[in-house]
Amino acid sequence: MTTSPLFTPLAIGSMTLKNRFVRSATWEGLAGDDGSVTERLCGLIDNVAAGELGMIISGHAFVSREGQAGPWQLGIYDDRLAAGLTELATRMKRHGSAAVAQLAHAGGQAAQMLTGTQPVGPSPMTGRSGAAAREMTVAEITQTVEAFARAATRARTAGFDAVQLHGAHGFLLSQFLSPHFNRRTDGYGGDVAGRARFLLETVAAVRAAVGPGYPILAKINADDFLDDGFNVDHMIETCRMLQDASLDAVELSGGTVADESRYSSVRTGEPARPEEEVYYRKAAERFKKEVGLPLILVGGIRSFDVAERIITDGLADAVAVSRPLIVEPGLVARWKSGDHGPSTCLSCNQCFEPGMMGEGIRCVLE
Ligand SMILES: Cc1cc2nc3c(=O)[nH]c(=O)nc-3n(C[C@H](O)[C@H](O)[C@H](O)COP(=O)(O)O)c2cc1C
Repeated sequence: MTTSPLFTPLAIGSMTLKNRFVRSATWEGLAGDDGSVTERLCGLIDNVAAGELGMIISGHAFVSREGQAGPWQLGIYDDRLAAGLTELATRMKRHGSAAVAQLAHAGGQAAQMLTGTQPVGPSPMTGRSGAAAREMTVAEITQTVEAFARAATRARTAGFDAVQLHGAHGFLLSQFLSPHFNRRTDGYGGDVAGRARFLLETVAAVRAAVGPGYPILAKINADDFLDDGFNVDHMIETCRMLQDASLDAVELSGGTVADESRYSSVRTGEPARPEEEVYYRKAAERFKKEVGLPLILVGGIRSFDVAERIITDGLADAVAVSRPLIVEPGLVARWKSGDHGPSTCLSCNQCFEPGMMGEGIRCVLE
């Protein structure tokens, strides 16, 4: 057994995590065609839940039909999905992890083939599928804010311990934050405060829906790595506003699905040295100096020692991983047992391929 600070509790709002490890939100490609929870999805979650994580975040769950990003994605847009969501939360919590529902809308990256409607974004844009998105009206923004609030109520009723707003990776909330995608001239565009208005209104509406004690988290980009995109200065200013708006914690990520460069959210290639493992180290250093919220750091973390130093150096309060748990759901349990060998994940992203075939994500190199 280890006495590492990684295995000490962490309070986020009214929730206490048993340790500092988080399963970052991961689309599994195992929900039903309508986004409903399936036994196959619960089966994958059973393996993750047995893995000694402090917190398990669901795959991004679409809050309204037109916000679906891809096939076999989890949905949280209708009360009819409630029984499955309750089962999912129960299975996540079975071994003492906190269960978190990630609430999402793909915006201009929505899958028109699946939604049957033209995608919408802050301004006209072309999504990765080639579909042309149109600019959202203010009425549509208000309806979407309400959809997030209703989805948060569903998550709470289903037994999730918290919700996380997906404000990263170039999906709708992140598109609004980014001057690369958001060229609006009304009150939802312009400076950082204007571009953050949609997200801040969403936090306020979710807070009103779930009540004062319930933790609300957000996943935010450190940087889009796009020309004229959202950058670290914007991130700091946005996170300060989120703190004032009663958010409980931020998970820092980066990159967008629009960009397949080496700065993608899911970067490929093994890091050469452990020092290079943490994608957003510099942004996290600034966050800890300039923002008062608990910080969860994700991106490229593969070694026990690197994870431990993140906590002991005060770089972040919790460490999140996604791909390492696809190849080895029991990674954290292994580290807890004293076997500190690194994750074998090569960050090759081939885990997406069976997911896109309807088989669910898995490591194809095993
Ligand atoms: C198969 C797969 C699905 C993902 N799905 C989501 C998602 O639903 N929501 C999200 O915020 N990030 C998603 N991500 C990104 C991860 O949460 C994480 O930010 C990224 O993979 C970097 O962390 P890692 O190096 O530990 O994998 C996904 C990544 C992978 C590989």
